[in-house]
Amino acid sequence: MLPGAPHLARDSAGRLTLDGLALADLAREFGSPLYVYSQAAMLQAVAAYQRALVGRQHLVCYAMKANSNLAVLQTFARAGCGLDIVSGGELLRAQAAGVPGDRVVFSGVGKSRRELQAALAYGVRCFNVESLPELDLLSAEAQRFGRPAPISLRVNPDVDAGTHPYISTGLRDNKFGIAHDQAVAAYRHAASLPGLRVVGIDCHIGSQITQIEPYLDALDRLLDLVEALEREGIAIHHIDVGGGLGIQYSDEAPPTADELVGRLLQRLDARGHGHREVLMEPGRSLVGNAGVLLTEVLALKPGPTKNFCIVDAAMNDLMRPAMYEAWMAIEPCQQRPGPAPAWDVVGPVCESGDWLGRDRCLAVEAGDMLAVLSAGAYGMSMASNYNTRPRAAEVMIVDGQPMLIREREDAAALFAGERLLG
Ligand code: LLP
Repeated sequence: MLPGAPHLARDSAGRLTLDGLALADLAREFGSPLYVYSQAAMLQAVAAYQRALVGRQHLVCYAMKANSNLAVLQTFARAGCGLDIVSGGELLRAQAAGVPGDRVVFSGVGKSRRELQAALAYGVRCFNVESLPELDLLSAEAQRFGRPAPISLRVNPDVDAGTHPYISTGLRDNKFGIAHDQAVAAYRHAASLPGLRVVGIDCHIGSQITQIEPYLDALDRLLDLVEALEREGIAIHHIDVGGGLGIQYSDEAPPTADELVGRLLQRLDARGHGHREVLMEPGRSLVGNAGVLLTEVLALKPGPTKNFCIVDAAMNDLMRPAMYEAWMAIEPCQQRPGPAPAWDVVGPVCESGDWLGRDRCLAVEAGDMLAVLSAGAYGMSMASNYNTRPRAAEVMIVDGQPMLIREREDAAALFAGERLLG
């Protein structure tokens, strides 16, 4: 089954479709490379979280780093979500998408004074603080601002999420969060600062997690702290369990969001914390399988040891293979008969690391359109302009209609802010 099914399918004529629209047609209409998303798939993904949280005080804060297009943010905001942001730029996006401050949590390991000021002015619901200096700086700024800042400490629970080292964040030697054994002292310090109001506790242990156990271990570690803190009179209102739920790229079988949330709530109840507000920060699992990257085959270059299929999308459009050696499925938009030799699917960027897939058996010819699947998360949001390549356009299928939600960049605009020496 294709990752992204049932929204992604192959029709009886061999055409790859998303929400019933032939992807090759969309690439012809909007050009390539092109990101295409199914809004219905996004709504289905978020509904799974919300179903499981019914009857609880909760807020699902979509981690916009996964895909921060305004139309995507608007989709989740209308579905009742808040947002998890990690920069002043993302704060501006939250504002542009019309998401009020009381639905925004501000995460991130290094927040600048200006970013803190902007977030205070916007009235964010919670600052997820990651260090003692950040507590001091935020307290001082909040005092100047005249309103205490609501905070939670991101605790590093030191559990192994069993994922790629670059996207695992909850281990002791990661840069993220406050070490578990220093957390109580950090909370004491926070509670003593005049500009802060302790409201919660949070963690985020990694990304593309395919098991429930690491989440339960992390939750247990957080609850140990909550109990210790409340014995000292430091009240913790909400528990934010972060994001990280994996999706299917090839043969992974991650738990569903319903399953994950169900088990977390069970554990909260079992330990007598069922009354607490639950926050979550999912990113990838809400958008990853809702999107594809379409790219045209520019040329085929069979060689003595390797066959290269050169396409018009590159590492600047989709960084995950180059950066993490991530495996993402590649499917022709139109099946054709004939032999399917193994190709390395590579982009035009001047780096050997510029590949989208290796040893992929494909029946292709120049001019064909390929789709890289599961590209809705950390695709466009990580794209760059390396080699002065304009970033791709984005289309969202809404109620069966393709809507252009981001124009293709114009190459000349990329250096419009630069100055010749005179
Ligand atoms: N909350 C915090 C504090 C985070 O750092 C992240 C992701 C999330 C939530 C959302 O995690 P998710 O549900 O998407 O796993 N670029 C990498 C993934 C980096 C994840 C960074 N943090 C990739 O392409 O695999």
